[in-house]
Amino acid sequence: MSTFWSVFITTLTILSIVAIVWLLIVTARTKASEIQENTTGHTWDEDLTEYNNPLPRWWLGLFLLTVLFAAGYLVFYPGLGSNTGTLGWSSGKEVSADLAENNRKLDAVFSRFRDRPLEDLVSDPQALTLGHNVFVNNCAACHGSDARGAKGYPNLTDEDWLYGGQPDTVLTTILKGRQGVMPPLGAALGDQGVDEVANYVLSLSGQKVDPALAQAGKARFMTICIACHGPEGKGNPIMGAPNLTDNIWLYGGSLDDVKASIKNGRSGQMPAWEPVIGKDRVRLVAAWVLAQSRHADETEHKP
Ligand code: HEC
Ligand code: HEC
Repeated sequence: MSTFWSVFITTLTILSIVAIVWLLIVTARTKASEIQENTTGHTWDEDLTEYNNPLPRWWLGLFLLTVLFAAGYLVFYPGLGSNTGTLGWSSGKEVSADLAENNRKLDAVFSRFRDRPLEDLVSDPQALTLGHNVFVNNCAACHGSDARGAKGYPNLTDEDWLYGGQPDTVLTTILKGRQGVMPPLGAALGDQGVDEVANYVLSLSGQKVDPALAQAGKARFMTICIACHGPEGKGNPIMGAPNLTDNIWLYGGSLDDVKASIKNGRSGQMPAWEPVIGKDRVRLVAAWVLAQSRHADETEHKP
């Protein structure tokens, strides 16, 4: 707050309190006896007259008390411009105190799971309920509320993992984040080259393609792509290079989508969550994610 407004508000507040007290004193001074006949001159219903009598004592007393209360309040609490009050109270401090209190309570809940192996939590209903809450609050925006993902955001409920599905790997993914880097290869391959290699990529998952283009694409794949996607196109979890043979697509599996992936590159970014929500919550949400993919294993059995 600028000094001008601080002074302005302080002056206005004090002036209005002084004015109120002055009004009280002036009204209280008139004695009841002096003004027995002192009517306001208003008369209704022929004989109903309004007297101009002083306010009752008890009422004045109460009013004075409220003025004293206001004065006391302004001394102890912030109210006069930028003056902070002698108690040093501020809404910000109150919020921080509430938050700290809340975190203490939550910490007590989370600490029960802290020393138990992740594998245990996957089958603990209470841990899974907490993990699901963490997921809804932090992950659903990208991975969908059912964790089935969307274009560019992997489905977390299937058996297909970019970075591997071991409990520790999933935990690391969430704690530290991941950065997928598929380089743009349009310039290196040319339009014809992109078309060829895209046809070859689609043939890997058994799609109908132009055999001549795919054949030409295979040679290119074996020189440029195998470093990351492997000689059979089955991917590499160390760098998050997707398996190109399973017909599960992060960025879409139409010829145009695949061509776009190759030509322009892709760079999916999974944020690191340890700095945001802490390790306790990450372990719980990792357990929930693992439980989803295992549940999918049991019930869906995709080809
Ligand atoms: C801002 C969007 C975003 C949010 C929020 C997000 N993720 Fe991700 N996540 C991604 C992207 C994008 C990838 C894929 C990275 C890549 O393409 O290499 C990913 C990948 C993953 C993977 C690896 C999947 C695999 O196949 O290996 C896991 C596990 C995961 N996320 C879990 C989570 C959890 C749990 C949360 C919440 C704590 C979360 N994500 C929040 C965008 C997000
Ligand atoms: C430097 C390593 C690297 C090279 C070389 C590379 N890729 Fe990739 N590729 C990746 C990574 C990593 C991803 C995943 C990107 C992401 O997660 O955002 C990817 C993604 C893709 C996708 C998208 C897959 C999907 O599920 O949507 C296609 C298609 C693809 N690459 C094809 C190719 C082809 C064809 C070549 C060779 C011409 C190639 N890549 C070369 C690392 C590489």
